[in-house]
Amino acid sequence: MDKSVSESITDIMKRQVDAFKHAKKPTQKPHEEQKRAKKRKRTEKKLRPAEVELKSSRFRWLNELLYTSDSKSSFQYFKDNEGCFQDYHDGFKNQVKKWPKNPVDIFITELKKEKYSSKVIADLGCGEGNLELEIKKHDPNREIYSYDIGKINEHVIQADIAHLPLEDNSVDIAIFSLSLMSTNFLDHLLEANRILKVDGLLFVAEVSSRLEINKFVSLLHKFGFKKKKVGQIKTFFYVMTFQSFKANKKKVKKVLKETNPDDYLTPCKYKKR
Ligand SMILES: C[S@@+](CC[C@H](N)C(=O)[O-])C[C@H]1O[C@@H](n2cnc3c(N)ncnc32)[C@H](O)[C@@H]1O
Repeated sequence: MDKSVSESITDIMKRQVDAFKHAKKPTQKPHEEQKRAKKRKRTEKKLRPAEVELKSSRFRWLNELLYTSDSKSSFQYFKDNEGCFQDYHDGFKNQVKKWPKNPVDIFITELKKEKYSSKVIADLGCGEGNLELEIKKHDPNREIYSYDIGKINEHVIQADIAHLPLEDNSVDIAIFSLSLMSTNFLDHLLEANRILKVDGLLFVAEVSSRLEINKFVSLLHKFGFKKKKVGQIKTFFYVMTFQSFKANKKKVKKVLKETNPDDYLTPCKYKKR
């Protein structure tokens, strides 16, 4: 081989070996990137607009208010401070984005089924009332009533679910989707049992960390709800179905007197980001 050609090939190889030696080791790269990402996050946090911070702390405050007050006081608060309910639900929607699945979607999918088409449904603590909207998109003739302490959509009926404007035994299916929030939630169970027909269904979704499942199921039995099905969404939520029966009124009154609601559902608090 021509000497000048072989020399230039040697030079090229040497350059490549040098370049390889001086290149950053691949194991160093992610570490550097991690450091840069952490720094970026710190800077973003510092620069996060005050408005966003204020909104999320406002949500946490309102959420805590709902979990630590009786329904009469919460109802009055949201009546006197109408805009707050929208703030609460903006914050709630942000929380939902972080969940593996929104429990209310499980109820929506179930209730769209043909077998429920003639059933009267009451969504108790409906929030924005999406359950009614979604099911009616699928079948506009369904009879659904959506109740909440606050009203941010036209179809929502503003009411405290401890005192519903519904006749006794008038509903086939009642739903508490993350809405057993008030300190007097036992009154909500009582009210659900009043409006439900015998053998009606009660759907309940709750944050798993709020309850001990066997204790909760036995409490519901005392209020006239027999367990049909209990499932979980990962470790986040319990999704339960009960069948109603008419519990002895005297016994229920006694249970109501003797039961400390905090022993069955603890308030759910969202972490500060
Ligand atoms: C966490 S949000 C869930 C909303 C909706 N059920 C869902 O799953 O998307 C709970 C809702 O229950 C309502 N709520 C809590 N206690 C209530 C009460 N005593 N009467 C009426 N609504 C109530 C709150 O105002 C809130 O809109």
